Amino acid sequence: MKINALKIILLFYFVCVGCKKNINEPSESTNESLFPYKNYSIGDDGNLIFSEMSVDDFQPASDCAECHQTHVNEWEMSPHGRSLTNKFFNNCLNDVKEEYGDEFQKVCFQCHTPANLIATPSISGNSPQVGLSCDICHTMTQTSNGTVTSPDRLVTNKYYLNPGEGIKYGPIENPEPNINHESQYNPIFSQSQICLPCHDLRNEELETEITFTEWNRIPGLAMSGTAPCQQCHMQEKEDGTHSHHFAGVDLSYEVTPEDDPQYENVLELIQTSANLSFQNSDGNLGDSIIRDSILVIPVQVESTNGHDLPSGTSFNRDCWLSIEIRSENSSGEILYQSGVLDHFLQLLNYRDSELTFFTSFLITEDGDTTNDIFKADDIINYSLPGMSKKNVEYSFQMDESINQIWVSAKLLFRPIKPYLFNEYPELQVNIPIYTIDEIEKNIQIIN
Ligand code: HEC
Ligand code: HEC
Ligand code: HEC
Ligand code: HEC
Ligand code: HEC
Repeated sequence: MKINALKIILLFYFVCVGCKKNINEPSESTNESLFPYKNYSIGDDGNLIFSEMSVDDFQPASDCAECHQTHVNEWEMSPHGRSLTNKFFNNCLNDVKEEYGDEFQKVCFQCHTPANLIATPSISGNSPQVGLSCDICHTMTQTSNGTVTSPDRLVTNKYYLNPGEGIKYGPIENPEPNINHESQYNPIFSQSQICLPCHDLRNEELETEITFTEWNRIPGLAMSGTAPCQQCHMQEKEDGTHSHHFAGVDLSYEVTPEDDPQYENVLELIQTSANLSFQNSDGNLGDSIIRDSILVIPVQVESTNGHDLPSGTSFNRDCWLSIEIRSENSSGEILYQSGVLDHFLQLLNYRDSELTFFTSFLITEDGDTTNDIFKADDIINYSLPGMSKKNVEYSFQMDESINQIWVSAKLLFRPIKPYLFNEYPELQVNIPIYTIDEIEKNIQIIN
């Protein structure tokens, strides 16, 4: 089966061309008179019919650097800052254009550069690409729903923005005045809802990329408002400002992981997503086990994550347990292995019944696994739900002569399944494998 990045795109296309109704109303909790927004209207073909906004109303990030240098630096290396320039995205977009014509880019632009869809072109004639610049978020006055795809409309999501008025909306209740812009406090900046329009994508009923929904489903989390997206993805610093690195799991893949300015941020975040321990629901694995012909090692994966692991484009990600059991110590004879790769680009064997993995698969109408997005009719989700626990047991035959074993468990994460980059070998060599957590233990075998 030939699998290429186009097929990933097809998913986006497939899921984005499917929606009957998505004229979202602003959420009721916000106050319309306090927080105005500008109107626009888009036809079924994705073309703008009218708009009260111009692309010129969205200031480039360079306009902010004089006073918000750190925000600009962090944003530039973030996936939001790279939403139009990153190679993976552009490879996908080129394939979309070639295969389906230029119009189809609009499906992608609704989240990767919304201003270019909802605002009239720049009066200078050449319409600069806005991307996910500061003003996309900081002119947002009201929250919207997630994106639900439609078979008869190219563009379905809806934004409530008030650009071009010299007002920046943000989380500071009493901002210092400045000569450049008016500042206005808006409580949505501290809530997950501000991320919702782009981080929740459904193909009608099919839950394709539903990070917000996963967060919302964790009992107690959304209701109490204790752990919004910002708590983990925009951490507060000593000076009270918030990180704009927006670390997730992706890098640019254009340089080796260690040379990517976002690498350390991703590594730091990803290590907070789950913990491993040698235990099951009955308790911890002790320092000794009574000899038996079959030994059982229990491993628990405990999510400390605010949504599924992996989330979003979960079908592109690999996350799995790598288990090794040796006689005597870490350099002893191998007694048992699962999920151990010889090469970092090796494919995982998802048919191995002993492999513990977290990912999702797209399924065709006939029930086959596919990466052909047009055929995707269902998604089978093996991700680890946020704040949940998964217990697994590894059993193996024991030789009578062995008196001590060494057990090691690693939870590994690969942001891109390697075959997705088969057509881009220059990106493929830069796919990292992260260790989320690792544990090891020596165990005496007693008679
Ligand atoms: C001349 C300096 C200057 C420039 C240029 C500038 N800002 Fe500001 N901005 C400030 C100051 C000062 C504050 C208040 C900070 C505080 O109170 O801690 C502020 C506050 C903000 C806030 C917080 C508002 C709130 O109430 O929470 C946002 C958002 C913001 N600016 C965005 C931007 C963006 C986006 C740009 C570029 C398009 C920009 N600023 C350009 C000086 C500037
Ligand atoms: C309790 C902390 C926490 C909260 C709350 C949280 N996240 Fe995450 N997020 C993480 C961690 C850790 C990762 C890296 C592991 C992973 O992929 O899940 C991550 C990864 C991601 C990714 C990349 C996912 C992937 O696997 O492709 C996206 C996108 C994301 N988060 C968005 C959000 C959004 C949007 C919200 C709010 C609705 C949110 N996160 C809430 C901790 C959190
Ligand atoms: C994806 C949306 C998004 C983008 C893009 C974005 N911001 Fe923010 N920004 C936020 C949110 C959300 C907060 C509030 C975080 C919180 O309070 O937890 C914030 C806070 C701020 C603040 C208030 C001080 C602070 O750090 O809390 C300033 C100033 C600011 N942003 C400037 C910028 C500038 C300048 C850019 C572009 C270089 C930018 N932002 C891009 C969402 C965004
Ligand atoms: C206007 C749409 C939009 C909004 C609003 C938005 N995002 Fe994003 N976000 C994106 C897109 C598009 C990407 C992927 C960019 C790329 O890689 O090309 C992304 C990527 C990310 C990633 C990195 C995922 C990865 O795989 O590494 C994180 C983390 C993230 N966003 C968090 C947030 C949080 C937190 C908020 C709310 C404060 C937010 N986003 C608001 C569109 C948006
Ligand atoms: C509903 C909003 C939305 C739409 C529509 C959308 N994207 Fe994205 N895209 C995102 C978000 C959010 C992410 C980050 C997701 C994550 O890390 O889980 C992303 C990530 C990506 C990535 C990186 C994926 C990965 O697994 O690392 C590519 C490539 C991409 N998008 C291409 C496209 C293309 C091409 C289209 C149009 C066919 C498109 N997107 C349409 C929101 C969107």
